[in-house]
Amino acid sequence: MVTPDNLFFKFADLNHKGTHVIIGKTVRIRKPAQVSIGDYSIIDDFTYVSCGLKVGRFSHVGANSVIIGGDAHVCIGDFVNIAPGCRLIAASNDYAGGGLVGPTIPPEYAGDPVVSYIRIKDHVLLGANTIILPGVDIPEGVATGAMTLITPDVKLQPWTLYVGAPARAIRKRDGKLILQQAHRLTFDPKYRT
Ligand SMILES: CC(C)(COP(=O)(O)OP(=O)(O)OC[C@H]1O[C@@H](n2cnc3c(N)ncnc32)[C@H](O)[C@@H]1OP(=O)(O)O)[C@@H](O)C(=O)NCCC(=O)NCCS
Repeated sequence: MVTPDNLFFKFADLNHKGTHVIIGKTVRIRKPAQVSIGDYSIIDDFTYVSCGLKVGRFSHVGANSVIIGGDAHVCIGDFVNIAPGCRLIAASNDYAGGGLVGPTIPPEYAGDPVVSYIRIKDHVLLGANTIILPGVDIPEGVATGAMTLITPDVKLQPWTLYVGAPARAIRKRDGKLILQQAHRLTFDPKYRT
């Protein structure tokens, strides 16, 4: 018996799947036509994606991560590493009382949705169980410790390590060697596509 590549969707239905991409059999992508995965990237098992998503090259989404947001779109750059259990929440609802909330509610009874985006630049590292809320732009080289919460109010600086909820900066990261290695890998003929 031939087992399918994936239990929930056909790889052929993705908007784009680069070469050497690995997508776990139990990854659930609700709208494959709105999802592009770049060369050499990996999406690990039990990850759930319900919105539009673009992933660059050599990036990784760890097991059990959630990328959600209805009509919103999430954009992940190159050389990004997302540890297991992260939650990228690109859309939400009015939690202050503007209407009933949740997918069970008919539109005429629901409050206005908060539909936004999440953009994650190259060389970002998200520690396990990091949570990103709608409307967050994560600059190049940011890293987060395990269990970090990033809201749009946090003023993120490139190449800086953040921890806690809400996130606070604890130190700078040195991007020099990382950028050199990324440049070499990008132009290494063994990995050109
Ligand atoms: C943030 C991290 C990288 C440690 O960085 P570090 O530079 O060694 O930092 P330190 O251990 O010196 O801690 C510095 C401060 O941050 C705090 N801190 C460290 N990690 C934290 C976390 N995850 N959440 C909240 N606070 C944290 C420490 O308590 C310390 O606080 P203080 O200055 O008030 O005493 C590490 O703790 C971490 O969370 N790593 C994520 C690992 C992970 O998820 N890997 C995924 C593998 S797939």
